[in-house]
Amino acid sequence: MPTYRIAPSILSADFARLGEEVRNVVRDGADMIHFDVMDNHYVPNLTIGPLVLEAIRPHVQVPIDVHLMVRPVDRIIPDFAKAGANIITFHPEASDHVDRSLQLIRDNGCKAGLVFNPATPLHYLDYVMDKIDIILIMSVNPGFGGQSFIPEALKKIAEARQRIDASGREIMLEVDGGIKVDNIAAAAKAGADTFVAGSAIFGKPDYKAVIDNMRTQLASA
Ligand code: DX5
Ligand code: ZN
Repeated sequence: MPTYRIAPSILSADFARLGEEVRNVVRDGADMIHFDVMDNHYVPNLTIGPLVLEAIRPHVQVPIDVHLMVRPVDRIIPDFAKAGANIITFHPEASDHVDRSLQLIRDNGCKAGLVFNPATPLHYLDYVMDKIDIILIMSVNPGFGGQSFIPEALKKIAEARQRIDASGREIMLEVDGGIKVDNIAAAAKAGADTFVAGSAIFGKPDYKAVIDNMRTQLASA
């Protein structure tokens, strides 16, 4: 069985109690924290930035996975690295110089990755696989939590898995959007190993019950 990671998205957490929320979800079995950054420009919503990352950083030891839904990306990357990010991903359409942005993330000591919207082709990976630590496949259009999983994402996950295997490199394959207990196994079967879930976890009273159920599903995938 591959190493599976569950990455709750704090987009659906109680923002008035964010420190406690991340501590609780890690206590209840989360492997990483997914941190959604939206700018009301690249996506039609506005969320949180480096100051909030810095504030939650001391509360958890697990990796913090920063998903940038902002344009442009380069100016803000060092700020997230300094605030304590471990992983930084961005959408290739949001950077004029994708290779440079990936290198910038790595130069700042973080793992780097690209995020693919439902209609974005994977060919952005063609010449940069050596700079990729993580590939994030969106299974919703970015901007909001609580949307429904787009099933076509499974095909793209499988294609990304083939590219990773062909590269021979250790690259995480993450899926984000509409992941629930009842579809996490399908995403794993397609080849994903890292699962973002916002509303499915923070929208429920018992985080441990959801995460345990997700792990049971993954064990049988
Ligand atoms: C959407 C975000 C997701 C979102 C997932 O733009 O990137 O991380 O929080 O939320 P759910 O799991 O509710 O679809
Ligand atoms: Zn996200």
